[in-house]
Formats: sequence, structure tokens, C-alpha cells
Amino acid sequence: MPASSVAIAPSPEFIRVPMSILRALEKTCVDLFLQHDATGSPVLYCDAGYPLSGDRIQGIAEADQESLYVRAQDYADFSQDLVDSLGATLEDDRLPVTNRYELLQCAVSMEIEHSLRMVNCDYYVAQTETIAGQIVGLLDGNKVLPSDLFDIVRHDHNTFVHVTNVAGYVTLLAKELGHNDPKELESIAIGGLLHDLGKRKIPSTILNKTSRLTPQEWNYVKQHPQVGYEELYQRDNLNQGQLMMVYQHHEHISGKGYPVGITGEEIHPWAKMLAVVDVFDALTGKRPYRTPISSDEALELIGRGAGTQFDKEIVACWTSTMQQR
Ligand SMILES: [Fe+2]
Repeated sequence: MPASSVAIAPSPEFIRVPMSILRALEKTCVDLFLQHDATGSPVLYCDAGYPLSGDRIQGIAEADQESLYVRAQDYADFSQDLVDSLGATLEDDRLPVTNRYELLQCAVSMEIEHSLRMVNCDYYVAQTETIAGQIVGLLDGNKVLPSDLFDIVRHDHNTFVHVTNVAGYVTLLAKELGHNDPKELESIAIGGLLHDLGKRKIPSTILNKTSRLTPQEWNYVKQHPQVGYEELYQRDNLNQGQLMMVYQHHEHISGKGYPVGITGEEIHPWAKMLAVVDVFDALTGKRPYRTPISSDEALELIGRGAGTQFDKEIVACWTSTMQQR
């Protein structure tokens, strides 16, 4: 039963769940909490098992509540329930495909955030297969246009949102470049979801720093492709292209990238695709050190690096894809 009057002792041990996520669930599998104001403690909203009808969720949204909360110790159960329910929601043809992609985007970012914070990334790597299949499923058949995708992706600063955006973008780019095999597209989407895995080891004080990085901090950041690669290369369920997306996505055609400084043809084609959409998403999203720029401005900047930082043909393809807006 809803029980919003039951106060819970102040605790930092709650995880925020956006309302758009709850729309994917028919009922709660864990207790849900509501926060009446920014300084107050969450209070119990409804017990586990209570039905979450569309009306009820709509009612909370109309009361200007953008989120509910779950206890941190319940998060694994909640997350599993969400992943189990998401598949059916994503296949529901009554919902516009853009709404379904938006839901996927939101659910995946949240899922990635929490699983990537775990010390062991096995769970996350296992989940990427399901997520990549869902991304490819929704992007297949041109049901989500490039303009839709740009509007749907979130443009806030968050590594977890970034990898979700990039997975969608790189899948779209691969399709535009002629990759039509769904299994290959799924592989590429997985590479997009894994590409910044090494950032887990970078302290958030460095990732969120608003001023210029010191040379030592910059050296630390530059290790993330190698750190991610070392974490993944012994797995037998990842292919060379995916591993190179992780290892080479900051390499430049000119040889001035990192971690190795290889050039042109030495860079895997999937890593070249990823390099373009990675920078595109970084430029069009908020970062602690600058405000986002428009899609057109980002394409203009990326165009200046065509042939030196980026592969020329891939830049041309991404530019024409995004100019279909
Ligand atoms: Fe990166």
C-alpha cells in the first residue's frame, strides 16, 4: 500500500530511479521511496509488490516528482527486475519506437552506472550482450532516425550516459557504412558499451575536474584504453574488433594519439568509427570544464580533424548522417 507518511531515518543509502524507468515495470519488486524536498529524507511510498499502473506513475510525475528511490541494498534485485521487464516493453509495438529507445537509454545508463561501480566487471560484460541486442533491435530498419537519436540521447555529463550514447551512435554509423549483419552490429554496440571501461580506475576527482589537468593527471587519464584492454583481453567472448575499440579509440590517423601512437591502417576500422562518435558525443554533451556545442558545430570541428585525427571517409559518412536532421 502507498504509505508516504512513514518517515525513514536519514540515510545516504538510497539510489535514485527516474520515473521513466518505473514506467517499464508493472509492479515494484522492492520498496520504493519518495523525497518530498531536497533536504528531507526519503519516505516510504509503496511496499514491494504494489502494482505500478500507468495512472499511478502519471500521478507522481504530475506532482513534480521526477524520481523515486530504492534502498541501495535492494538495488541488485530492482535492477534484475528492470532488465527482465525491459525486453517486453521494448518489443511493445503500441509504444512509439522513440519512447522505447528513450527508456532503453535511461535504463541502460542507470544499469551501467551501478554495475561499473562494482569492483568486478563480469556482470557488466555479461549484460552488454543483452543491451547491445536491444540497441540494434530498436535502431534496425531505420525506425529511429539520426535526428531522433540525437534528440533522445542525454546530453548531461556522466561517463555512464556517454557510453550508452556512443553505443547507439556507433551502431548507427556502422549501419550507414554498410554493416548490415545484426550479429556484427551487436558486436560493435558491445564494443561501444565497453570502450571506456578503464575509466573505472580513474578517480572521479580527476574525471570531474573543472580546471586544466596537471601533466600527471593527464597521464593518468591517458592510461584508460590500456587499463580497459587489460581487463578484457583474456575473455574468450570478445573479438579483436571489440578489443581494439577499447584499446585504440584515442589513436589518431596521424600517429599523434594515445596510448601507442599508431597510424592509419594500423588502427582497426571499428576503433576509427568509435573515435568519431566518441568525440561527437563529448562535444555535444556537458562536461565539467565547458558547455555543450551544437551538432553542426561539433561536425565542423570534427571535419577539421578529418585525415589527421579521424578517418576521412568515416567523418564524411557521420557528417551526412547527422545532417539528415
Ligand atoms: Fe575514452
